[in-house]
Amino acid sequence: MLHEDTSKLTAKVESGEAVKLSFHYNTKVIDKFINSLFFKILSNNDMNYLHGVIESVLREMIVNAVKANSKRVYFQKHDLDITDAAQYETGMIEFKSFFLNDSLELREILKESGYKVELVLKKDDKGFRIYVNNNTGLLPFEKERINVRIEKAKMYSDFSDMYMDISDDSEGEGLGISLTILFLKNSGIGENSFHIVSNGEVTQSSITVPLTIRTPEAIELIQRRITEDIDDLPTFPEHVTELRQMCFNMDISLNEISEKISLDPSLVASVMKLANSAGFVTMHRSENITDAIKIIGLKNLDVILTATAAKKILDERFSDFREVWSHCNKVAFYARELAVKFGMIQKGEKCYLAGMLHDLGKLVLLSLNSELVEHIEKVIARKQLGCCTVLEEVTMGISHSSIGKMIAEKWNFPDYIKEAVSRHHSPMLASDETRDIVYLTYIANCMCMMENKCFNFHNIEDEVLKRYGLASQNDFSNCHQELMFKFEERGTQF
Ligand SMILES: [Fe+2]
Ligand SMILES: [Fe+2]
Repeated sequence: MLHEDTSKLTAKVESGEAVKLSFHYNTKVIDKFINSLFFKILSNNDMNYLHGVIESVLREMIVNAVKANSKRVYFQKHDLDITDAAQYETGMIEFKSFFLNDSLELREILKESGYKVELVLKKDDKGFRIYVNNNTGLLPFEKERINVRIEKAKMYSDFSDMYMDISDDSEGEGLGISLTILFLKNSGIGENSFHIVSNGEVTQSSITVPLTIRTPEAIELIQRRITEDIDDLPTFPEHVTELRQMCFNMDISLNEISEKISLDPSLVASVMKLANSAGFVTMHRSENITDAIKIIGLKNLDVILTATAAKKILDERFSDFREVWSHCNKVAFYARELAVKFGMIQKGEKCYLAGMLHDLGKLVLLSLNSELVEHIEKVIARKQLGCCTVLEEVTMGISHSSIGKMIAEKWNFPDYIKEAVSRHHSPMLASDETRDIVYLTYIANCMCMMENKCFNFHNIEDEVLKRYGLASQNDFSNCHQELMFKFEERGTQF
């Protein structure tokens, strides 16, 4: 089963079919495969913000299943009776280090013994059902202990009081279960969605991830604030909208356009900066707006006017997040170069603007630097926060893509921008008309995230890669190298 690629399995899950993966031992390759599969499934449903939570919870479920099987084979191998309390105590002392050593010997025994773990995933109208089965039963006292831990964990609301309470836990398993419950609770999936049942021969742990996340109160507050922030945004400046229309009106002269631009110093600065940048190298420096427009062309002018106006409003309203803008600048450059490379020169500027604006929502999200966010950050304090989604996971339930879409709608941006903003993490949901612009923005964004080491090739949708002949990792990375080189050579900071 493991050879099937993750995109095919994602499609299967979406169609309501159950997907099953079974293995004796969770190797790094299997972990990575499962991780990519969930990444794609969540992307498809615009639920990326849950990725970190699902990854941690699922890892815990799988490790526990492998561990339970390993425990049984270890006891059998050493002729110990697992049901005898005294022998259990003795066996567990050695078993812990045996399991932690992650030895080849253990993998071999598990394979020979026929013990295995099965991951089952199914989507229905209630949500995603995730089951992890292993073919050994739980002993009555193991069952008892797990249930006590689950119930206890449901009472914690904070990582620190939970940690104090269980750090003396002798088997060290309590922390895992308690964290699982805490993550489920704080993510809005719900602490009651986790279950463990055993019939003596098979043990099954399961969670259901609802399609609509019921958000905890504190998080609802943040969501409300975001909506208010967006409602409060000024409308898109009229003179810029007029200028954009003028760019495409054949009856309007360059002089008329430059006169209108001259009235807005921020637009003048952006246009002059662009015209004199490395990307538009000419013999002479352009000293006035009309020359500058001639150099950059009317299509580029439209892009620069829109991006400048959007940036000005957002920077005034929220904090000036240079990192986000410089990321967008690079994504824009890559997206345009990709359009040209794949023979869609006429879409180049649109891809550029889509790239420039794709993370609009992030600016709003990052501005929520309130005490409330800090409080929630503490609650969800954990080790493995993905570098791209930290704040989204904190705010839970609203992605920067959907915030961005709200802004794009408020400002009446064209459909291709709305789509690129809302689908740049879930490209498979793009409409036919905007598919190439969304896909190229997505690829450009993936490349930039890879440069920041928070994304890997296997997480990219195969269908998107195939459309441009980039399905092999080698072809993809050659293309990426080429773009990095071009950006070094003539990329400019917006
Ligand atoms: Fe993004
Ligand atoms: Fe991005």
